[in-house]
Amino acid sequence: MIIKEVGYNKENYAHFGTKFLIGNGYMGVRGTPEEYTKEYMPAINIAGVYNLAAPDKWRESLNAPNPFFVKIAIGGTELALPDATNKVLLHEQSINMALGIHLRKTVFKTQQGQVNIESRRFASMTAHNILALEYIVTADFDAEIIITSGIDGNVWDVNGPHFVRHNIVDGEIMSVEGVCDNGLSVKTLEKVEIKGNLKSQSVIKEDKRILRALTFAVKKDEQCSIKKVAYVSTSKDLQIAKKTSDTNFLSLTYDELLVAQTEYWKSFWVENFVTIEGDKEAETALNYCIYSLQIIAPRHAKALSIPARGLSGQVYKGAVFWDTEMFMLDYFILNDIGTARTLLKYRIDGLKGARIKAKQEGFDGAFYAWESHENGLEACTKFNVTDVFTGRSVRTYFMDKQVHISAAIVYGLHKYTSMTGDFSILADGGLEIILECADFYMSMLSQRFSHRQDSDRVGKLELHDVVGPDEYHERVNNNAYTNRMAKFVLEYALEVLKKQTATSVSQVEKNRITAYKKKLKKCIEAICQPRTSKDGVIEQFDGYFELEDVSVDEVRSRLKDKREYWGGSNGVASTTKIIKQADVVTMLALFKNEYDIQTLRKNLEYYEKRTEHGSSLSACMYGLLHCYCDSVQDAYPMFVKSAAVDLVTPSKLWAGGIYIGGSHPASWGGAYQMMVYGFAGLTLKQTKKGITPVLNPRLPTHWKRLAFKCSIAGKRYNINITNKKHSIKSAKYKEK
Ligand code: BGC
Repeated sequence: MIIKEVGYNKENYAHFGTKFLIGNGYMGVRGTPEEYTKEYMPAINIAGVYNLAAPDKWRESLNAPNPFFVKIAIGGTELALPDATNKVLLHEQSINMALGIHLRKTVFKTQQGQVNIESRRFASMTAHNILALEYIVTADFDAEIIITSGIDGNVWDVNGPHFVRHNIVDGEIMSVEGVCDNGLSVKTLEKVEIKGNLKSQSVIKEDKRILRALTFAVKKDEQCSIKKVAYVSTSKDLQIAKKTSDTNFLSLTYDELLVAQTEYWKSFWVENFVTIEGDKEAETALNYCIYSLQIIAPRHAKALSIPARGLSGQVYKGAVFWDTEMFMLDYFILNDIGTARTLLKYRIDGLKGARIKAKQEGFDGAFYAWESHENGLEACTKFNVTDVFTGRSVRTYFMDKQVHISAAIVYGLHKYTSMTGDFSILADGGLEIILECADFYMSMLSQRFSHRQDSDRVGKLELHDVVGPDEYHERVNNNAYTNRMAKFVLEYALEVLKKQTATSVSQVEKNRITAYKKKLKKCIEAICQPRTSKDGVIEQFDGYFELEDVSVDEVRSRLKDKREYWGGSNGVASTTKIIKQADVVTMLALFKNEYDIQTLRKNLEYYEKRTEHGSSLSACMYGLLHCYCDSVQDAYPMFVKSAAVDLVTPSKLWAGGIYIGGSHPASWGGAYQMMVYGFAGLTLKQTKKGITPVLNPRLPTHWKRLAFKCSIAGKRYNINITNKKHSIKSAKYKEK
């Protein structure tokens, strides 16, 4: 349960900052050494609080003033990374997932001897505004050690600076409040317990930060240390949080918080640990995914979702994508129904924004934001990448053409209701989402009625001018995935309407509903199916088969700059069959029961060769489909790729001049789905007794046992699978 790196390499600051993230859903704290300042991207990223710093910048989530800033000096010389790199004898960084704590150990060599730093820090899972740090210094000689620590308001921002003013307060409790020009503010308070032979202390008050310099006179091997408790809040807390934190910051001690943290994670793992006997690496990677999803789950909020890069920083503007509903949601539905509901409530609140967007784009109903901020506000711009040669912004069509986003939300609602048996969310706003997304697709269909002469298409309804999951091919017609998802929305709308008992409804209203159902049925029947080649390959979109058929390597070799964007009008992939990520394969993984196994295999084989996997959302869909096709040994590398996405050095940090680093929650969720639906083969059966789980396991041959718990329709189950037998037993558990 330990993720660890030994050795120091300055270049790793961006990757390690992400890999060693701690958090509690309210905030995420990047895993950078305490002495790092903003060039090395330390950040305390706050969930769901956004600001626009200037009209020519992107609106993005905010980072809080950093109370974990600490550095040391001995005999007047600073010992701080990365400058003192040549003096480092040992450097270790780790996350102890069993306890939810970040650990750091560094040994510096000086002329007088060795100096050790050890720190522990965590984001409290029991008090969402609280961060805690213990920082211990020892030397193997008598020394005067200065620990300088405080709150650094000089924060790292991608599209900042956001704070136009810093209110700084000195005293036993120090604070730095960053204030944006619209009054929005983020405030960090801290108090410190000091241990060791303190000789003197002073306060350093600067523009944007306040620090305490503590001078200790210590004997050889004697410790000096600080224990810090910090309280982070924003002026938006009242709107977002379920309740204001009733935490009495003044009375909390580091030691008590540590005990509570340890207890929280101990009981968490009793419920959520996944055992994979025979494959320790896969077990650790998957449990890291679970840890990582848990530390970004908005458990504190009424209605909030998870950004595509989690809480690892402001990449992708801290915005929410289809990643949540299609990739992450299943983990929460199966383990933490409260958070699953919070995620969907966020979309219910976002319906207003989705209506506005649909109208702006000339459609009816609800067109959800491709990159969603609060209240469903669209954060995606029309220019998302930069041409690396000219430095000019390139028009991309993610925002206005990636219409499959609305279907993802409806799909999420369907998963939630069918797996939990909790239909109350429909009455709480879910039904409106379903119907308005159906209206949206129907308005697109009717406007794009085909006049083409192709015999198989005459009279069919088409969806034109879209971008499917594969973003490299823009403005295409009849993307197979999008058409199927749109049809799904219409089918689900019809299903929920049929179940509605309209006893108190007037005759006029009844007639209206009947006419609406008729319209839905007509569209469902007429929505066009993708073309299929003679040997069963489904065409990704109209005209895809006519594109240049080259290998991924060939397309890569055409790049003149490795940061070049592959898609868009000039991209190297746009005129070829090379796709960014699973597209037809995602459709097949979701609707596998509609196809025979030969078709599934044929398409998997065809598209796998032609996929760059330029998105971390890709591998898990290929992996899932491999499992469904019983090619488990081919699924396994896809599982490892998804689960270990943030444990290995990232392959792609740039897309057309834009930094896209940070963590990959969708990939963690995808790995979890592969484990549950793919390897364990979990499906649900509707019986007289209600919804019950069924297993059809296909374990990788070297796995001896797979065991985990999950909740279905309010019941917790223990699942145990070996290569010889499997069982599902009721587990004792109280749904929170
Ligand atoms: C992918 C999208 C995804 C987004 C955020 C993009 O690179 O193409 O499908 O939603 O990243 O993860």
